[in-house]
Amino acid sequence: MTSLPRLVVLISGNGSNLQAILDACKSDELPASVISVISNKADAHGLTRAQNAGVEAIHFAKLENESRRDYDARLANYITAKQPNYIILAGWMRLLTSAFLEHFPNRVINLHPALPNTFPGTHAIERAFAAHQLGEINHTGIMVHLVPDEGVDNGPVLATELVPIHPTDTLESLEARIHETEHRILVQTIKDLLTDKIRCRP
Ligand code: GRF
Repeated sequence: MTSLPRLVVLISGNGSNLQAILDACKSDELPASVISVISNKADAHGLTRAQNAGVEAIHFAKLENESRRDYDARLANYITAKQPNYIILAGWMRLLTSAFLEHFPNRVINLHPALPNTFPGTHAIERAFAAHQLGEINHTGIMVHLVPDEGVDNGPVLATELVPIHPTDTLESLEARIHETEHRILVQTIKDLLTDKIRCRP
């Protein structure tokens, strides 16, 4: 068993943020080890990224007739056995209930492609871009936060970074700037937690 801090990463799709974490672990920028990557979607590209990095890649499928809470409790059991220091939601597109969260106080970290209290839920970047086109905003941002409860993209903030929206931006160029920012800030925030620069435990 590795003595490095242990990360479990939950994904649902592309996994570019997972890739940033894997790369940072490999280069020793991040003093941690990804011990499992779990997706609720079978075809999530992030599972391939995990396999390519030699990391356990699990499609954790919902069983027929399984309730949300039962799924979450089963997922929590699986992850508890991995003894993670932190669980990173990196594009995990499924709301977690207390049946999961109560097992991991102060240890579930979410990434949201908008600033605190803005554009919660899905399509945050598209909605920020639309607001910009209406002249309502000239910046958006990203945040990394703890997930204490079932609130959507809400919880104690660990890090934020403002991302400007330029007049010449397309949705694609804004998405690229936001993702680049996410990759950098997510890795930095995990590092800050692991090195006690940010403390989130009482
Ligand atoms: C990111 O924008 C993240 O903030 C949001 O979902 C996206 C996941 O992207 N929750 P990826 O799968 O890491 O490429």
